[in-house]
Amino acid sequence: MERVISGIRPTGNLHLGNYFGAVKSFVQMQDEYDSMFFIADWHSLTTHPTPEDIRRSARVILSEYLACGIDPNKAPIYIQSDVKEVLELYLYLNMNAYLGELERVTSFKDKARTQPDNVNAGLLTYPCLMAADILMHKADKVPVGKDQEQNMEMARLFARRFNRIYNIEYFKEPESYHFNKNAVKVPGLNGTGKMGKSEGNALYLCDDEATIRKKVMRAVTDAGPTQLNQEKPEPIANLFTILDLVSSKETYDFFNDAYNNMTIRYGDLKKQLAEDINAFCAPIRDKIKEYQANTNYLDEVAAAGAEKARQRAAVTIKEVREIIGFLN
Ligand code: ADP
Ligand code: TRP
Repeated sequence: MERVISGIRPTGNLHLGNYFGAVKSFVQMQDEYDSMFFIADWHSLTTHPTPEDIRRSARVILSEYLACGIDPNKAPIYIQSDVKEVLELYLYLNMNAYLGELERVTSFKDKARTQPDNVNAGLLTYPCLMAADILMHKADKVPVGKDQEQNMEMARLFARRFNRIYNIEYFKEPESYHFNKNAVKVPGLNGTGKMGKSEGNALYLCDDEATIRKKVMRAVTDAGPTQLNQEKPEPIANLFTILDLVSSKETYDFFNDAYNNMTIRYGDLKKQLAEDINAFCAPIRDKIKEYQANTNYLDEVAAAGAEKARQRAAVTIKEVREIIGFLN
């Protein structure tokens, strides 16, 4: 059975972008693949969270994964820092990763520009740690959003390079996976760009009804269409992208027709959008609360996941050490 691995950094709550970009694929894959999911707490250290933040965030993301429908009996969930073998593979991959190529990674360049006083080495070698997570499992497929494509290319490059250096077909090149073939980019509601925690425009799965309504009603729009069947400018296209994800086809077609024949009222569109986002989030929100109240269960899930991940990681590390020339 093909293997699947993916992770999310615990730097806040899950939002609709995380859900439609990554978590929805995780949930669909658990039935058909040999899947594991993890919480990338080592990756989150690039932003220097406090110890309390780290402890709290891991449990938050775990409860949110479960609430979204990941079943730990089908797909074990673990916390990255519980699987120390990953660090050893990270070290080996670092030895074959070059400064020039790491500096060219767009997300590194963006961070170097936006946070010039914290351009740490962990940020530079982020793709090596991510590749270690993936190659450790010899994963075939990795469900991630569009913004992770370059990190995925680096993981494939490091796999090929390791094989070439040691003249062995050992690591597989992992593929990115998207639930509806094409990667979705969930937009924000502030007119341009993607939805993200650091963009400050996220609709969180745990947001209550009033918060969602308030955020949606504030979404940026324009003065309305001025021609029949005109192309939608970005802020409006973004509202329709989200509508398409959470609403029925009839609702989407209704507002799309209204836009095309210039009768649309953005207030009605937003009201409907808020309602449909709420209908989508409400059951997940309720489950998040249930899981969060049950910390013993969360700890059990993480412990069982760590054990399974460590078993697999131990095999890989033993083989890799042999290939590199260490006496095991
Ligand atoms: P954020 O951008 O909010 O910090 P992360 O970088 O932690 O989110 O992303 C976790 C996962 O969710 C990744 O697989 C990423 O590709 C996906 N993701 C995040 N935001 C979006 C979005 N707006 N659209 C699609 N996928 C997204
Ligand atoms: N870089 C990913 C993100 O920011 C998180 C991540 C870390 C990951 N290691 C991974 C995703 C391995 C998939 C596989 O969202």
